[in-house]
Amino acid sequence: MIRYHIFLSMATGFSLHSLHLTKLHSPNPTMHNPKPSPRVCHTHSPNRISEVISFEESKTGVKGILESGVTKVPPMFHVNLDPTDTSPTDSSLAFPIVDLRDIDTDSARRVEVVDRVQSACHEWGFFQVVNHGIDVEVLEEMLDGIRRFHEQDGEERKRFYCREKEKKVRYFSNGKLLRDMAAHWRDTIAFVANPHPPNAAEMPHVCRDIVTEYTKKVRGLGITIFELLSEALGLKSSYFKEMDCAEALYILGQYYPQCPEPELTMGITKHTDCDFMTILLQDQIGGLQVLHQNQWVDVPPVHGALVINIGDILQLMTNDRFISVYHRVLSKNIGPRISVATFFMNFTISECTSKLYGPIKELLSEENPPVYMDVTMKEILTNYYARGHDGNSYLRPLRL
Ligand code: OGA
Ligand code: NI
Repeated sequence: MIRYHIFLSMATGFSLHSLHLTKLHSPNPTMHNPKPSPRVCHTHSPNRISEVISFEESKTGVKGILESGVTKVPPMFHVNLDPTDTSPTDSSLAFPIVDLRDIDTDSARRVEVVDRVQSACHEWGFFQVVNHGIDVEVLEEMLDGIRRFHEQDGEERKRFYCREKEKKVRYFSNGKLLRDMAAHWRDTIAFVANPHPPNAAEMPHVCRDIVTEYTKKVRGLGITIFELLSEALGLKSSYFKEMDCAEALYILGQYYPQCPEPELTMGITKHTDCDFMTILLQDQIGGLQVLHQNQWVDVPPVHGALVINIGDILQLMTNDRFISVYHRVLSKNIGPRISVATFFMNFTISECTSKLYGPIKELLSEENPPVYMDVTMKEILTNYYARGHDGNSYLRPLRL
């Protein structure tokens, strides 16, 4: 059977003129993916392709679909749900919360906190922090700023719609839309926030000031968390900072519109984050779940809290002591849900250095030999961008 597979010209980013349809003979498209996730489609019918193209050309995202009066979830967003994936979770599993109060003044508290952080990173790969030092007004204004961007007139949003990854501010829906077509019910405004932030003129005026302020605050918190993570591994406090883990920040302002048929689609399907660490700010709607002991556990919205998760590269550097776990966001018939994900990693290939990242030597021994190879960020990113959002870990090809 002949199927169609879409290729993008990376040189021009994601312009529809660079989109080529190439005939491939099945099963080639799944050749590198021996165990495809049930919810992801790698080959696409011509109908689906034209649906995706007209969605992309609208440049107004999922929000634009609703604005046009559509009341059903269009087929390109339909996800093949595996029934075992939605089984009820054990409500006795308490998602870890870490209180950072007094960690700089009370050394006994700090020891306790480092201990909690170490077990959360080892067992869950996720935890929430409270009393982290960022004012709740800043968090609320950041969520509001992202909402203002997504809720302004479609013509205004369109001006920012872009697929060029080198651009410092861009609006898009589904970062990997044409690669995997597991279209998610979600729109995004992305900022390459540090170390070379966009200039004021590049920023949408509705959220310019707060994005600049939030970037500074979240980077400061990131440095604190990296210190706790270093201490949790028995390394000197500044270890991860000196490895430049807190240098590059990529901020995604996610907007999950209310969904008329939530059982047919997802806000974001199962994935791990390909970075050192992520700090997530979520509103009160809920829907984020993490895979823990083979069950999907809700990350309960806690007012004023931030969610921290370990990314793939920290799992690699800690040789699996800290884990980068699968998570996803369910669609809901209430909304919109707004979240802000800050990725500590450089997502701009042209800015990558030749610095090598691999399992930390101090953590290795004869009983604990390295299980990953050393890699550069450029190699990691190239692999990341080449792959679809296919439900497999980005770490798999890096295992020795
Ligand atoms: C992500 C992510 C979760 C959320 O952007 O990688 O997992 O709650 N986001 O938006
Ligand atoms: Ni994520």
